Amino acid sequence: MTARGAGSAGTGARSSRARTGSGAAARVGAAERSGAAARVGAAERSGAAARVGAAERSARSSRADVASRQDSDDGGSVPAPAPPGGPGGRRRHLLSIDDLGAEGIATVLRLSDRFVEVARRSIPKVPALRGRTVASVFAESSTRTRLSFETAARRLSADVISFSPAGSSLAKGESLRDTVETVAAMGVDCFVVRHGCAGVPAQVAGWTGASVVNAGDGWHEHPTQALLDCATIRQVLAERDGLAVDDVGVDGFVGLRVAIVGDVAHSRVARSGILALAALGARVTLVAPGSLLPPSLAGWPVEAVTADLDDVLPETDVCYVLRLQTERGAGAFVPSPREYTAGFGLTVRRAALLPDHAMVLHPGPMVRGVEIAAEVADLPRTVVLRQVANGVAVRMAVLFLLLGAEEVTGDA
Ligand code: NCD
Repeated sequence: MTARGAGSAGTGARSSRARTGSGAAARVGAAERSGAAARVGAAERSGAAARVGAAERSARSSRADVASRQDSDDGGSVPAPAPPGGPGGRRRHLLSIDDLGAEGIATVLRLSDRFVEVARRSIPKVPALRGRTVASVFAESSTRTRLSFETAARRLSADVISFSPAGSSLAKGESLRDTVETVAAMGVDCFVVRHGCAGVPAQVAGWTGASVVNAGDGWHEHPTQALLDCATIRQVLAERDGLAVDDVGVDGFVGLRVAIVGDVAHSRVARSGILALAALGARVTLVAPGSLLPPSLAGWPVEAVTADLDDVLPETDVCYVLRLQTERGAGAFVPSPREYTAGFGLTVRRAALLPDHAMVLHPGPMVRGVEIAAEVADLPRTVVLRQVANGVAVRMAVLFLLLGAEEVTGDA
């Protein structure tokens, strides 16, 4: 299919700058960050490999740990209390998919399988993070991400502090740093941070002694969304092949044809998703008008860029639909929602172009009738509610890896 060739199609001048390349992930991250954010990110990433390596080693012992705890709904063995900041006293963060790499992503996915099992229990809770405190700091609107993180923390038996700028001292003129330090002084092990500005979670990591998880920063990244998307894709692929998800590993991503459709320019979901999918070996095609692509795609690990959705769909295994991010100004980049739908909406006619096995994902919130038709949103192949369900398990895995104990000792 010619449109998949880099630069072979696209309406806008910027729509033909597809690049491929190993190691591109780091370059994308660096290119996308604002100067200050990049500096903070670089500082935070120094030693990230060691931290993630430690997290992976911890995960190996922890997986056995979690599995053994699943024998009992409300008891059994519990982890030894770890020092503040996580096992060994090291602080660990998840600020970008770059912090994980392919092996780290695979580790999170494997561990999240254990927590999917926990979610199916009559009492979907384990004592893994008893005594830990997770603070959710959401300075931007959120339904699923916030509830998902808070649910994940509670299912791990952590205490949860929930903070929103409205009604807080931020509204009285206090700086974000003073507010964060105030919350940290109450004894917080992990901040889950969403903010409209790229780089804020990395800044929070520099202000406190707690671990930090990026729950979406501006247009930059949303790593746990990418992880839950990968978990969902992996689950569907396993079911399709009649295999247990535990048995499939991440091999199914190699060569998987993923089309990411819509407002790439303003989407942190797309940035993290591209990094994660490419790291696992998927072939990513961006489908968007030139006005909704970033100014440069240099270093982005995508196979192709096109504006011809009809051409791409028949050769797509995973169709990932993005919302038109009007709150970030996307409305100014398309003539009207109706014209956007005409060119890039996943309509009933277009969904029928997908191969039978193809799945449709959307990070939510969906705007039915704009980027996705209501009927398509309700098709069995559209797995948005699975994404939400997996989001809890994946965030449990992430919190557990950042804060969990290394060894299985003691009783509940
Ligand atoms: C996304 C976000 O906030 O970046 N949603 C989410 O986290 N589930 C995508 C969006 O808002 O369109």
